[in-house]
Amino acid sequence: MRSTFALLDDCQYRLKAAAALLSVSENTLRTYVKDSGIEIKRATADNPNSPAVRIFTLDNIFQLAAWRRKQGLIKPLSATPICIAVELIKGGTGKSTTTAEIGIQLQLSGYRVLMIDLDVQANLTQLMGYESDLEDGEAATNDLNSDAIVHGTFAEVVKPYLENSRPGANKMDDISHYIKWPFGADGPALIPSDTFLGDLEHAIVATRDTRELVFRSFFRASTEGKIPGLNVKDFDFVLFDCPPSISFVASNAIAVSDYIIAPVKMDSFGVKGVSRLVGEINYIQSKSGQQPELIILPTHYSSNVSRVARMSQKLQTYKDNLPDMSISSSELFPKSQEYYMPLTLQQPTSAPVKEYRKFTDFLLQKIGAKEYAAAKEAAAKEAAAARSVAA
Ligand SMILES: Nc1ncnc2c1ncn2[C@@H]1O[C@H](COP(=O)(O)OP(=O)(O)O)[C@@H](O)[C@H]1O
Ligand SMILES: [Mg+2]
Repeated sequence: MRSTFALLDDCQYRLKAAAALLSVSENTLRTYVKDSGIEIKRATADNPNSPAVRIFTLDNIFQLAAWRRKQGLIKPLSATPICIAVELIKGGTGKSTTTAEIGIQLQLSGYRVLMIDLDVQANLTQLMGYESDLEDGEAATNDLNSDAIVHGTFAEVVKPYLENSRPGANKMDDISHYIKWPFGADGPALIPSDTFLGDLEHAIVATRDTRELVFRSFFRASTEGKIPGLNVKDFDFVLFDCPPSISFVASNAIAVSDYIIAPVKMDSFGVKGVSRLVGEINYIQSKSGQQPELIILPTHYSSNVSRVARMSQKLQTYKDNLPDMSISSSELFPKSQEYYMPLTLQQPTSAPVKEYRKFTDFLLQKIGAKEYAAAKEAAAKEAAAARSVAA
């Protein structure tokens, strides 16, 4: 029995695809295999007549990514996780797709990623292999075990915390069983969504604390070890896939995030969604002091549509937030949903996956530079303080 809808056993990669997944040259990958001692089977194991090429399974790929991290070949970026909200107040712009693709790619780079589905439509949950409506009785008929069922969402994770902060509350239960590991322990983690996620909005509205800052206090409590079963410090990145509507859930994601990625659909008409988002970020900043950096990612790009040219021009208002890259319009994305797996894992050498990889690299470089500058500033301050003590 499988634990998700995805046919993970069918995912087999030859050297070139495996190297693309891990963003290294084929030679470097050969060295990784040798040094790590991770056993990679040969095609001849299944079919004696085939060439003796190495066949990497999905497990092998995530094992190699994790090994790379343990070897210190990947430097942790910061002591607490970098939070990224993928957000735009408009549906169908590529938010869930972007969360899934960069989530997988960051994990493949060697970082530990937690993705949180904040949309009741549960598209991210589906891209990670789960049907949010699947119930216990139906699982077995689909050849699935109980791991394939969504037993709880971020609502079940946060609500006990909110209830626990009331006086006289009981001890919190461990929430680790709500966290999914769709590709095994070396892969990314997911807090999935289903229709009951809607309860989270109600719980936030009912709180007596500042409504926009619930996630922030929850994350602080988590890093202090006060949430049994979830310490967000175990992750390098937390990615939020946000709903297309204005809600406290979406505002909370902004208030806890270091970066906001806004996927903008290029074959559409307006940039109103972006200006609305900028307004929302400014409002949250006035409430929380948090100043997330906005990054616009053009999606559904096509060079020969006049609407795209017009949109490109309109986006120039936000040129400081607009990296020189975009994701092409590609039928491969809607198709990838049928297989319950992000395109990165299905077609690692395809053109749109390369575009997402370029964007992920850009993101890592940007974050690295910012963290480095922050660390340098902190060190300078410390040195100045030490000097003043000495004097
Ligand atoms: N670059 C793209 N080109 C073509 N189709 C895309 C692209 N990105 C996403 N899609 C498709 O568009 C639809 C909406 O994407 P999705 O990521 O779910 O948007 P959102 O989360 O913003 O509602 C999906 O069917 C998805 O497969
Ligand atoms: Mg979505």
